[in-house]
Amino acid sequence: SSMSELDVEKGLEMRKWVLSGILASEEAYLSHLEALLLPMKPLKAAATTSQPMLTLQQIETIFFKVPELHEIHKDFYDGLLPRVQQWSHHQCVGDLFQKLASQLGVYRAFVDNYKVAVETAEKCCQANSQFAEISEVSFKGTYIILSKQSLISLPPSLLYKPVDRVTRSTLVLHDLLKHTPSSHPDHPLLQDALRISQNFLSSINEEITPRRQSMTVKKGENRQLLRDQFMVELVEGARKLRHVFLFTDLLLCAKLKKQTGGKGQQYDCKWYIPLADVTFQTIDESESSPVSQIPEEEIDAMKVKISQIKNEIQREKVDKGKVLDRLRKKLCEQESLLLLISPCMAFRVSNRNGKGYTFLISSDYEREEWREIIREQQKKCFKSFSLTSLELQMLTNSCVKLQTVHNVPLTINKEDDESMGLYGFLNVIVHSATGLKQSLNLYCTLEVDSFGYFVNKAKTRVYRDTTEPNWNEEFEIELEGSQTLRLLCYSKVKQCRDDGENMDRIMAKGQIQLDPPSLQGKDWQRTVISMNGIEVKLSMRFTSREFSLKRMPSRKQSGVFGVKIGAVTKREHSKVPLIVRQCVEEIERRGMEELGIYRVSGVATDIQALKAAFDANNKDVSVMMSEMDVNAIAGTLKLYFRELPEPLFTDELYANFTEGIALSDSVAKESCMLNLLLSLPEPNLLTFLFLLDHLKRVAENESVNKMSFHNLATVFGPTLLRPSEKDSKIPANPTQPISMSDSWSLEVMSQVQILLYFLQLEAIPTPDSKRQSMLFSTEV
Ligand SMILES: *[C@@H]1O[C@H](CO)[C@@H](O)[C@H](O)[C@H]1NC(C)=O
Ligand SMILES: *[C@@H]1O[C@H](CO)[C@@H](O)[C@H](O)[C@H]1NC(C)=O
Repeated sequence: SSMSELDVEKGLEMRKWVLSGILASEEAYLSHLEALLLPMKPLKAAATTSQPMLTLQQIETIFFKVPELHEIHKDFYDGLLPRVQQWSHHQCVGDLFQKLASQLGVYRAFVDNYKVAVETAEKCCQANSQFAEISEVSFKGTYIILSKQSLISLPPSLLYKPVDRVTRSTLVLHDLLKHTPSSHPDHPLLQDALRISQNFLSSINEEITPRRQSMTVKKGENRQLLRDQFMVELVEGARKLRHVFLFTDLLLCAKLKKQTGGKGQQYDCKWYIPLADVTFQTIDESESSPVSQIPEEEIDAMKVKISQIKNEIQREKVDKGKVLDRLRKKLCEQESLLLLISPCMAFRVSNRNGKGYTFLISSDYEREEWREIIREQQKKCFKSFSLTSLELQMLTNSCVKLQTVHNVPLTINKEDDESMGLYGFLNVIVHSATGLKQSLNLYCTLEVDSFGYFVNKAKTRVYRDTTEPNWNEEFEIELEGSQTLRLLCYSKVKQCRDDGENMDRIMAKGQIQLDPPSLQGKDWQRTVISMNGIEVKLSMRFTSREFSLKRMPSRKQSGVFGVKIGAVTKREHSKVPLIVRQCVEEIERRGMEELGIYRVSGVATDIQALKAAFDANNKDVSVMMSEMDVNAIAGTLKLYFRELPEPLFTDELYANFTEGIALSDSVAKESCMLNLLLSLPEPNLLTFLFLLDHLKRVAENESVNKMSFHNLATVFGPTLLRPSEKDSKIPANPTQPISMSDSWSLEVMSQVQILLYFLQLEAIPTPDSKRQSMLFSTEV
């Protein structure tokens, strides 16, 4: 096997985690079965008296195979417990799982008898009020709730608990197998158990499906689950995590109940709307207030925190620290919070003439998917209806079994997923679109998944009155564990509103998988996304973080790109390199109101041409610039800083800056950061102050160009700070490997924070007053 020793160790440690989880849920399951069996003995005893409550035959039918199920699981549990308690990496458990799987036939018998069992119990209740009472008392709070009206109200528990159990243990078997090296003696046994369980499940699912429907829906109707997803709902201004289920005839919003005593998952229904009554609202029609957005800084601070916890977990894993559980819990809390606060796009549904509900989504793609599938389904649903509370209860209970999304989309839930996605930069050129039927004002947006969920990353300009738009715009998108790129094509309808509500019409949407092997090459990959008749041509190029980080000194010292800043200013007899001043002047002349200036990349060929002109000290460079798209000039300036052989903030002081920004006392932070700034070499300091002034002016026009301090810091932070030698600032301690992906996120965010700090600082010494600044006066 190609697994390294460390991976094997980690895998075997994971086995113990998985097994402990199985033990806990087996325990809960056993106690359920025991509660169910509790009244069986007294009933049997009474059956042989002169006044039997139920006949032996009836008891047999109602409790058919439940004692056997209990015995099988008790055996399994009793076998597993001591082995987990005396855990060692050589411990084997495969035989227990194989045995359990071989006994699945009992479940089949249970399921086959189920319908008769329920009917019998119902009949007995009607005929025998005493039994009805006993049932109520002894099953209280557990399984069968027999009401005074002799109504059996909770079949799903009886049926689904056992079968659900098989589904779950099959999932867990997968996990266990994944963490069992193929050389381990357990491997073949677990594989066998998994195969048996899967066969059993696929055979039983075919049979159960119609039965389940007949229980939850009136005869003749077919209610099926079409889609389910975790979503954030806005309830009286508060964000709540919900699980939303779309059935063929209704939309149901449920909340996962707080887990009490390992009872497994349970849902509370919050509301439902028959599809025939669902309407979509825009903000104009709804009374609710616009969605308040969480400042990006806050969200980033949270990401930093998450990355830090992840790093701690990495360390603890290696040290086998006892705090691991606590850290995981903390990570889970933070990630849940991030998931809750980050989406800001409203998705409003309402009950015709009734109440409206607002979900918050971070992906317009997903919002459109929901609308499409609901609209499509509405064509088949004409009748409104309402569910009785019993029907609603049963439907909600069935959600546990039906759900297709089992985990809240947090990275902690995918931690051991083999495909971790891509980390680095994806350059995307959106070329053109074909296949449009009518002339429109078109633009595209790009979404990628990062931190486990999708966000909008880029937007092309609007190409007006055309059936064949030619955007040819390039974007640089940062990937953080991304696996999919989505593209949405909009027709511009109205001005985009200040509150972020997008009123434009989605014409088409499509997605492609970001496939690491094919993207790893350094060349541009051409691709086409086809979506309902429209085809959009793209080119993509991926640069991994390790590579994009490298600052490459130029071999030609006569130019400006890749040449030390001090060498350039000396040669030019300038304080600030000419290229910086010329680019800034041009942008201040006509780029200050450009939407997304510095964020939107210019056309790559223009940038290359401009770079060559600056390197050759071409006299016509200003003429060239005046004719070029202003985004290309912004791109050239960014490229210049990015290619500096040493970052503007220098390698030497990088660690000092990151420590300084982490100080919590604001006074200490300010003097430390200013002191560090002023200890930069003179050309670096003067150039930075020149640029900083410019960036502050750009942000003054934020209402037009949408470039806030934060946006600018995101763009320029890594460009100005990213050190030239990789690994130089990551503690290179072999006993504490920090996963590249996590530490990079942390690094990048720290770089952003540093630049943001200077952008927000009121008083930065001007170049002239530098040497007389307060901080230096103490040295005099
Ligand atoms: C930067 O940090 C190093 C190591 O902690 C220290 O020796 C050095 O004096 C610091 N430089 C400045 C300018 O604070
Ligand atoms: C842009 O900022 C300048 C100040 O730098 C200001 O005078 C001007 O009104 C702003 N323009 C807009 C459209 O906000």
